[in-house]
Amino acid sequence: MKTIFDSTTLRGISLKNRVFRSATWMGMAGTNGMVTDAIVDVYRAYAQGQVGGIISGFTSISPYDGALSGALHFTQDSHIAGHKRITEATHAEGSRIFLQAALLDTYVANSFGRGELKSVNELTQEDIRGIVGIYRDAAMRAEMAGYDGLQIHAAHFFGLSKCMSPLYNQRRDEYGGCATGRARLLVEIHDTIRRVVAKQFAILIKINCSDFIEGGLTQEDFLTTCELLARIGIDAIEVSGNYTSRPHVRAGVNEAYFKDAALKLKALVSTPVILVGGLRSLETVNSLVDIDGIDYVSLSRPLICEPDLVARWQAGDTRPSRCVSCNACYHTHNHQCIQRLHGREA
Ligand SMILES: Cc1cc2nc3c(=O)[nH]c(=O)nc-3n(C[C@H](O)[C@H](O)[C@H](O)COP(=O)(O)O)c2cc1C
Repeated sequence: MKTIFDSTTLRGISLKNRVFRSATWMGMAGTNGMVTDAIVDVYRAYAQGQVGGIISGFTSISPYDGALSGALHFTQDSHIAGHKRITEATHAEGSRIFLQAALLDTYVANSFGRGELKSVNELTQEDIRGIVGIYRDAAMRAEMAGYDGLQIHAAHFFGLSKCMSPLYNQRRDEYGGCATGRARLLVEIHDTIRRVVAKQFAILIKINCSDFIEGGLTQEDFLTTCELLARIGIDAIEVSGNYTSRPHVRAGVNEAYFKDAALKLKALVSTPVILVGGLRSLETVNSLVDIDGIDYVSLSRPLICEPDLVARWQAGDTRPSRCVSCNACYHTHNHQCIQRLHGREA
């Protein structure tokens, strides 16, 4: 019988269990997106709480991009030392850590070397080469900082998910048209990164299983894209969707809301699948890995609520997560759990 506590390997990298912390923007970065002591402490706490694979919060990798308040930046070599503190703290506790490399939108360099927002349709071939180069540089820096891999953020209305979505992408060249054309940028990013990093550096992707919006990416597009990514050798696919943090999730009632799409993907590819979205009980996550064959489960709000949830489950306290999916953590200082802030020990 498989359980979330099984140790596994991903691209030869050992993971102590099948649990990921899904990327979570904490709004805690210092001036210009620098790593702070408080951020290092958060990652250490997740590792001490027995999360096997930690995906960093949304990290801005483009010097031309717009800002997500308090998000980490990784746009130049001088940022490597700060990120090294995160990876060292995590590795010291036996967990793995992956950088979520993100673009807020389709910003590119203008002729003055400043950021300019273009629509997906306005991007020139040179702009596209620039975006691929930004991912290449981020991966090289991530590797130097000791990350075990990088997750391409291609979900949740952000820059790359727009490039994949027929709602935003009406290009008529090789970067548009059918789902395969719209996925071409992702393929180029993947292939370019793979050429410059070591063999044991994992490339993951977080992707929408649907845009859940009229005219947007469909589940069929998602499956076509993932099949392509599997073929070129992506190391794991995290299945998410727009409006990812659904409210009012209840253990045993409406958990795992992207499960159907993940199961269709599992039937299609042998690439490891990571499922995020409304996982709250040990029973559900164990059933996902044992019965449904999902490779990894991924948690965001439950870990904001209880950073040691996995350790608690492992120690035999199998009550579901105390997270009530109120989404107050999107609005609190440093995206903390409101139950904890109000002194109710979660
Ligand atoms: C405060 C907060 C910040 C988030 N930041 C990110 C992020 O940086 N990158 C990302 O891909 N998803 C982000 N998410 C979405 C989560 O990773 C996850 O996909 C979603 O909340 C569903 O999982 P859950 O039910 O375990 O919370 C964030 C969610 C929350 C609540």
